[in-house]
Amino acid sequence: MTKVKASNQHIPVLLEESINYLITDINGIYIDGTYGRGGHSDLILKKLGENGSLFAFDKDPDAEKNIQKKHLSDIRFEFIRAGFENINDKKNNEKYSSNLIGILVDLGISSPQIDNALRGFSFQRDGELDMRFDNTQGKSAFDVLNNYSKEQLIKIFKEYGEVESPRRVAEKIILHREKSQIKTTKELANILSANHFRFKIHPATKVFQALRIEVNDELNNLTKFLKEALEIISIGGRICVISFHSLEDRIVKKFISEHANINKELLQLRELPKNFQPKVKKVTNLIRPSDIEIKNNPRSRSARLRVFEKVA
Ligand SMILES: C[S@@+](CC[C@H](N)C(=O)[O-])C[C@H]1O[C@@H](n2cnc3c(N)ncnc32)[C@H](O)[C@@H]1O
Repeated sequence: MTKVKASNQHIPVLLEESINYLITDINGIYIDGTYGRGGHSDLILKKLGENGSLFAFDKDPDAEKNIQKKHLSDIRFEFIRAGFENINDKKNNEKYSSNLIGILVDLGISSPQIDNALRGFSFQRDGELDMRFDNTQGKSAFDVLNNYSKEQLIKIFKEYGEVESPRRVAEKIILHREKSQIKTTKELANILSANHFRFKIHPATKVFQALRIEVNDELNNLTKFLKEALEIISIGGRICVISFHSLEDRIVKKFISEHANINKELLQLRELPKNFQPKVKKVTNLIRPSDIEIKNNPRSRSARLRVFEKVA
């Protein structure tokens, strides 16, 4: 197995843009749902006043181990190792629900996670097929690949990877695993590239995306997060979501339009009943990284930021 030196750095994406939209009151309470290496948290803390506070979530034990020292010693900061989909859990919500005025999530994986072969996120590095954000619990990519039925594999490749030939990919995997279990990222990448599918990008890219989404239940967690975030945030509070692929972005876009739009028939009424009034408003159109940001940090190229505000 090739050893690749793991980097511990992550360059925050759409940093200024997201934080400028997020902060509306320097003495309010904020949540960074995806601490990673703390890039966004750092700028939030720099902008907050002495009565502001920041609660940072991350599932990854490595994120907790690598919390920036200056954050640990900042009394306005608290780290919670948990999923952002659980922000409204009783255990935590009483700490911040009184004046929660901004929530940011920067979805997906951090550079240290991609670059650490042991985490199994990248087909360019040889490591065990893990892919769990929280690698202390739950099923891994190895479990999914070696135990899911053909139909289950087809479904995730199609829905989460938008893989062009999901059935052929699943059949190839099943054929291989009948001989021996698929254990490493390189093994899987080799099985996939041995196929002559007409992929525009490396054949492993979409399959790895599908496995990661399945292992971490990413789309369901995002849906649950949006619902809970809207419940718990104060009126006037803003939710900023940075996503990295169209499946995530579609969920966010749909959520905003479902809660911002009014049924056309109701518009004929003189006064809208409370239950039918829009709950959110879009704060800005979709924001993408500038050419300069993409040049300096190619990993930012697929990022998209959406910002919306709770109005009722
Ligand atoms: C793109 S990185 C965030 C980087 C961070 N903004 C920074 O500047 O360092 C995404 C992080 O979200 C975490 N994550 C992914 N899904 C999560 C979830 N459902 N709940 C909490 N953390 C999650 C990952 O472990 C990863 O550390």
